[in-house]
Order: sequence, then structure tokens, then C-alpha cells
Amino acid sequence: MAVVTVEIDGVTLHLAHPDELAVRWVGQEEVMRQLLAAWLVVDPQDLPMNPRLIGKPGVGKTTLAYAAAKRLGRDVYIMQATVDTRPEDLIVQPVIEGPAKLRYVASPLLSAVIRGAVAVLDEGNRMSEKSWASLAPLLDTRRYVESVVAGVKIKAHPQFRLVTTMNDDASTFDLPEYIHSRLQPQILIDFPERDEEYQILKENLPFGEERILQYVTDFLQQAHAADERYTVRDGINIARFAMKLKGLATGQSHESEALHVSILETLGEEAMRYFPRA
Ligand SMILES: Nc1ncnc2c1ncn2[C@@H]1O[C@H](COP(=O)(O)OP(=O)(O)OP(=O)(O)O)[C@@H](O)[C@H]1O
Ligand SMILES: [Mg+2]
Repeated sequence: MAVVTVEIDGVTLHLAHPDELAVRWVGQEEVMRQLLAAWLVVDPQDLPMNPRLIGKPGVGKTTLAYAAAKRLGRDVYIMQATVDTRPEDLIVQPVIEGPAKLRYVASPLLSAVIRGAVAVLDEGNRMSEKSWASLAPLLDTRRYVESVVAGVKIKAHPQFRLVTTMNDDASTFDLPEYIHSRLQPQILIDFPERDEEYQILKENLPFGEERILQYVTDFLQQAHAADERYTVRDGINIARFAMKLKGLATGQSHESEALHVSILETLGEEAMRYFPRA
């Protein structure tokens, strides 16, 4: 792909490329509707919001963010946040290009800001307050970012949209109130109903054997009823591994054994209590 550059206030910025994922959102239309609503602009004086998708690891946060952007026909830039993400990683990084020459590389987030695309700030809960602080003006009525490194102030394209995903696990920074208030609304992705969960498994494993998918759906539904943390991602892994085990099984089909081993080796002994009876 060709390198895309833009010039802002005499500074040349090299833009990132959008992400392409082969995912489709199945069921769970209410959270999709809420996310699209948060991004909607209903009046010339209105502004889009910066929603936060929250939920357990593997419930579909990143998938929903991506799929919603694609429903709007927008390019998507996924920016993975970590504990080491610094403000310059979020905005512009200088890269040495030759003697006394710097190249300014725009982050995926800034590339979306400039191009009017959707930025998914993934796992934003892992990022420090310092890094979030550098985004404060982007997340309120000002809608601009400043790169200290490149010495430019960049106004967001009117079509720019942002969503951040956050796990509700323990590995998070506590965000200060002023950041918290800029990342609203908070859209909670919960476990799907049985029907939808089956459809999600099927969407992700279109070659999946019917009986195995049904088994795994039963397993997940029982685990959800007991408020376990197991999600559809675990279910996909279980079904996938069970089918592989079956593929290498000798003699008669050891389907139930394959599922047993797969659940055990995916989630451990504690999960066996939800093993559906044949
Ligand atoms: N409604 C859905 N439609 C289609 N696929 C789904 C849906 N929900 C979950 N999935 C699938 O479940 C898996 C996990 O989803 P995803 O990676 O989006 O979860 P996550 O919440 O972002 O997890 P993490 O917190 O670990 O980043 C993916 O394979 C995704 O395709
Ligand atoms: Mg994710």
C-alpha cells in the first residue's frame, strides 16, 4: 500500500493504514443501536459522543466497535492501548529518517482524526492517566489534538468518531473523573441469549459441526447462569479444539471425550461442572 502523507502547518505527517477484519456482528442489536446512537449527530450544533464499551474479556467489545464502524461504511483504525502507551504513541511519533532528518508518523488514532474515520482505542483501561490526559481536548467540544513532538495542533475531521473498549477485570488504571466524564455513554456488553450465542459460534466457526456447536452453547449458557466469566471466545476455542481432537481421533468418534478434553484444557477443572450431560 502506498504511504499516505498529509501536510499540516508545514509539517508532513505519515498516516497509518486502516484495519481490515473479517468479522460480522451477530444478534445483540441493542448494544449496536446504542453505539451508533452515541455517534449520531442530530443537529448542526450537536456533537458526537465518545462511548465506552465495557464487559468481560471475550464478550465481543472489539468486534462490536469494528462492526459498528463498518455499518457506517467508515474506515477503522484500531489502536491497542497498553500500560506503556505514551502520549506521543497516541498522537505523533518522530522516526529518524536520515542525518538530521525526522519523519513524523501519525498514530492510528490520529490518522482517524485526520481522515474522518473511526478510531477504536482498544483496552483503554490499561492506559495511564497521563496518556488519557493528552486526549482530553479531543474528547470534549474542542475536538482537537496537539502534538508536542511535531509542534502542530490538529482539528478533528467532522466525521471522526471514537470508541474505547474496557475490560472489567482488575488490570486497570483508575481513571480520573475528568476522563471518565468524557467517555460516555458506557455501553455494557452482556452475555447473549442461547439463540444468539449459538449464531455467534456458527458465524465464527461456519465449518463447525452442529452437535459440537450445540454442546458448547449449552455449556456456555449454563456457565452464564452461574455467573462465570466464560465468554463466547472461550466457546469458540473449545469448539475449535474439540473438532481438531476429533479430527485426529482413532476408531469410533470420541466426540464427548474430545469436548471433555477441550473444556478441561481451555478453562481448567472448575469448568467441568458445566459440562452438558449427553
Ligand atoms: N455478537 C457477536 N457477533 C459475532 N462475533 C462475536 C459476537 N460476540 C463475540 N463474538 C466473537 O467472540 C470473539 C471475542 O470477541 P472480541 O475479541 O471482540 O471480544 P473482546 O470483548 O474485545 O475481548 P477482550 O476484552 O479480550 O479484548 C471473537 O471471535 C468475536 O468474533
Ligand atoms: Mg478486545
